[in-house]
Amino acid sequence: MTIWPILKMGDPRLLTGAKPVTEFGTPELKALVADMFETMEAADGAGLAAPQIGVPLRVMVFGFNQNLRYPDAPPIPKTVLINPVIQPVGNEVDESWEGCLSVPGMRGVVPRWAKISYEGLDVDGNPVCAEATGFHARVVQHEYDHLNGILYPMRMENMAFFGFIDAMNAVYSD
Ligand code: NI
Repeated sequence: MTIWPILKMGDPRLLTGAKPVTEFGTPELKALVADMFETMEAADGAGLAAPQIGVPLRVMVFGFNQNLRYPDAPPIPKTVLINPVIQPVGNEVDESWEGCLSVPGMRGVVPRWAKISYEGLDVDGNPVCAEATGFHARVVQHEYDHLNGILYPMRMENMAFFGFIDAMNAVYSD
Protein backbone atom coordinates (compact mmCIF):
# COMPACT_ATOMS: atom_id res chain seq x y z
CA MET A 1 0.00 0.00 0.00
CA THR A 2 1.10 3.52 -0.71
CA ILE A 3 0.39 6.91 0.79
CA TRP A 4 -0.14 9.26 -2.15
CA PRO A 5 0.47 13.00 -2.24
CA ILE A 6 -2.85 14.89 -2.12
CA LEU A 7 -3.42 17.51 -4.81
CA LYS A 8 -4.10 21.02 -3.57
CA MET A 9 -6.66 23.58 -4.75
CA GLY A 10 -5.23 25.28 -7.82
CA ASP A 11 -4.26 21.99 -9.44
CA PRO A 12 -6.45 21.71 -12.56
CA ARG A 13 -6.89 17.96 -12.00
CA LEU A 14 -9.21 18.80 -9.08
CA LEU A 15 -11.55 20.64 -11.46
CA THR A 16 -12.03 17.88 -14.03
CA GLY A 17 -14.91 15.45 -13.74
CA ALA A 18 -14.05 11.79 -13.07
CA LYS A 19 -15.08 8.80 -15.20
CA PRO A 20 -17.15 5.80 -14.04
CA VAL A 21 -15.35 2.59 -13.11
CA THR A 22 -16.22 -0.19 -15.57
CA GLU A 23 -14.23 -3.17 -14.24
CA PHE A 24 -14.65 -4.43 -10.69
CA GLY A 25 -12.67 -6.78 -8.47
CA THR A 26 -9.43 -6.11 -10.33
CA PRO A 27 -6.09 -5.93 -8.49
CA GLU A 28 -5.70 -2.34 -9.75
CA LEU A 29 -9.04 -1.22 -8.28
CA LYS A 30 -8.38 -3.02 -4.98
CA ALA A 31 -4.94 -1.39 -4.73
CA LEU A 32 -6.42 2.05 -5.50
CA VAL A 33 -9.03 1.70 -2.75
CA ALA A 34 -6.47 0.39 -0.20
CA ASP A 35 -4.15 3.29 -1.05
CA MET A 36 -7.01 5.79 -0.74
CA PHE A 37 -7.90 4.55 2.76
CA GLU A 38 -4.25 4.65 3.78
CA THR A 39 -3.75 8.15 2.33
CA MET A 40 -6.95 9.43 3.98
CA GLU A 41 -6.02 8.00 7.37
CA ALA A 42 -2.42 9.27 7.22
CA ALA A 43 -3.85 12.77 6.74
CA ASP A 44 -6.62 12.34 9.40
CA GLY A 45 -9.20 12.87 6.66
CA ALA A 46 -12.89 12.10 7.03
CA GLY A 47 -13.05 11.14 3.36
CA LEU A 48 -11.06 11.14 0.13
CA ALA A 49 -11.98 11.05 -3.55
CA ALA A 50 -9.77 9.52 -6.26
CA PRO A 51 -9.31 12.83 -8.16
CA GLN A 52 -7.55 14.19 -5.03
CA ILE A 53 -4.67 11.78 -5.73
CA GLY A 54 -4.79 12.47 -9.47
CA VAL A 55 -6.86 9.41 -10.45
CA PRO A 56 -9.85 10.55 -12.56
CA LEU A 57 -12.24 7.75 -11.51
CA ARG A 58 -15.57 7.91 -9.66
CA VAL A 59 -14.23 6.31 -6.47
CA MET A 60 -14.56 7.76 -2.98
CA VAL A 61 -13.79 6.49 0.52
CA PHE A 62 -14.91 7.87 3.86
CA GLY A 63 -15.45 6.93 7.47
CA PHE A 64 -13.65 6.77 10.81
CA ASN A 65 -14.15 5.82 14.43
CA GLN A 66 -12.59 9.00 15.76
CA ASN A 67 -11.22 11.87 13.75
CA LEU A 68 -8.53 14.28 14.92
CA ARG A 69 -9.57 16.98 12.43
CA TYR A 70 -13.25 16.74 13.50
CA PRO A 71 -13.06 15.67 17.17
CA ASP A 72 -16.77 16.26 17.82
CA ALA A 73 -17.97 14.24 14.82
CA PRO A 74 -19.76 10.95 15.51
CA PRO A 75 -18.25 7.77 13.98
CA ILE A 76 -19.06 7.04 10.33
CA PRO A 77 -18.81 3.48 8.98
CA LYS A 78 -15.74 2.99 6.77
CA THR A 79 -17.15 2.88 3.27
CA VAL A 80 -15.94 2.71 -0.31
CA LEU A 81 -18.42 4.02 -2.82
CA ILE A 82 -17.84 3.65 -6.56
CA ASN A 83 -19.96 5.30 -9.27
CA PRO A 84 -22.13 6.89 -6.55
CA VAL A 85 -25.57 8.43 -6.91
CA ILE A 86 -26.91 10.79 -4.23
CA GLN A 87 -30.49 11.95 -3.64
CA PRO A 88 -31.65 14.50 -1.07
CA VAL A 89 -34.31 13.19 1.35
CA GLY A 90 -36.62 16.11 2.10
CA ASN A 91 -35.47 19.64 1.43
CA GLU A 92 -33.83 20.66 4.69
CA VAL A 93 -30.42 22.31 4.31
CA ASP A 94 -27.74 22.47 7.04
CA GLU A 95 -25.02 25.09 7.14
CA SER A 96 -21.88 24.00 8.93
CA TRP A 97 -18.09 24.23 8.95
CA GLU A 98 -16.23 22.03 6.53
CA GLY A 99 -12.62 21.46 5.51
CA CYS A 100 -10.81 19.57 2.76
CA LEU A 101 -7.44 17.83 2.52
CA SER A 102 -6.98 19.68 -0.79
CA VAL A 103 -7.54 23.04 0.96
CA PRO A 104 -5.20 22.51 3.92
CA GLY A 105 -5.45 24.67 7.02
CA MET A 106 -8.77 26.23 6.09
CA ARG A 107 -12.44 25.90 6.97
CA GLY A 108 -15.61 27.35 5.55
CA VAL A 109 -19.37 27.25 6.16
CA VAL A 110 -21.07 25.27 3.40
CA PRO A 111 -24.77 24.56 2.85
CA ARG A 112 -25.53 20.84 2.34
CA TRP A 113 -28.64 18.65 2.27
CA ALA A 114 -29.37 17.64 5.86
CA LYS A 115 -30.49 14.14 4.85
CA ILE A 116 -29.57 12.08 1.80
CA SER A 117 -29.78 8.60 0.43
CA TYR A 118 -26.82 7.30 -1.51
CA GLU A 119 -26.00 4.25 -3.52
CA GLY A 120 -23.09 2.91 -5.49
CA LEU A 121 -20.91 -0.16 -5.79
CA ASP A 122 -18.13 -1.63 -3.68
CA VAL A 123 -14.76 -2.79 -4.98
CA ASP A 124 -16.24 -6.10 -6.19
CA GLY A 125 -19.22 -4.45 -7.85
CA ASN A 126 -21.72 -5.30 -5.09
CA PRO A 127 -24.39 -2.69 -4.42
CA VAL A 128 -24.00 -0.36 -1.44
CA CYS A 129 -26.88 1.80 -0.30
CA ALA A 130 -27.54 3.84 2.81
CA GLU A 131 -29.20 6.93 4.25
CA ALA A 132 -27.20 9.56 6.08
CA THR A 133 -27.81 12.71 8.10
CA GLY A 134 -25.64 15.37 9.70
CA PHE A 135 -21.86 15.12 9.31
CA HIS A 136 -22.11 11.75 7.55
CA ALA A 137 -24.38 13.27 4.89
CA ARG A 138 -22.04 16.27 4.63
CA VAL A 139 -18.95 14.09 4.05
CA VAL A 140 -20.68 12.04 1.33
CA GLN A 141 -21.84 15.20 -0.49
CA HIS A 142 -18.35 16.73 -0.17
CA GLU A 143 -16.58 13.67 -1.63
CA TYR A 144 -19.22 13.32 -4.35
CA ASP A 145 -18.54 16.92 -5.39
CA HIS A 146 -14.85 16.03 -5.91
CA LEU A 147 -15.95 13.52 -8.59
CA ASN A 148 -17.55 16.42 -10.45
CA GLY A 149 -14.63 18.80 -10.07
CA ILE A 150 -16.29 20.88 -7.32
CA LEU A 151 -14.35 22.07 -4.25
CA TYR A 152 -16.23 23.25 -1.15
CA PRO A 153 -15.33 26.97 -1.50
CA MET A 154 -17.27 26.86 -4.80
CA ARG A 155 -20.39 25.92 -2.76
CA MET A 156 -20.00 28.70 -0.17
CA GLU A 157 -22.56 31.49 0.01
CA ASN A 158 -20.79 33.83 2.44
CA MET A 159 -17.03 34.21 2.11
CA ALA A 160 -16.97 35.95 5.50
CA PHE A 161 -17.17 32.42 6.90
CA PHE A 162 -14.00 31.19 5.19
CA GLY A 163 -10.60 31.32 6.82
CA PHE A 164 -7.55 29.72 8.32
CA ILE A 165 -8.25 27.30 11.17
CA ASP A 166 -5.50 28.71 13.38
CA ALA A 167 -6.89 32.23 13.03
CA MET A 168 -10.52 31.19 13.65
CA ASN A 169 -10.07 28.84 16.60
CA ALA A 170 -9.85 31.88 18.85
CA VAL A 171 -13.18 33.18 17.52
CA TYR A 172 -15.40 30.11 16.96
CA SER A 173 -15.65 27.49 19.65
CA ASP A 174 -17.58 25.20 17.29
NI1 NI B 1 -12.22 17.44 0.00
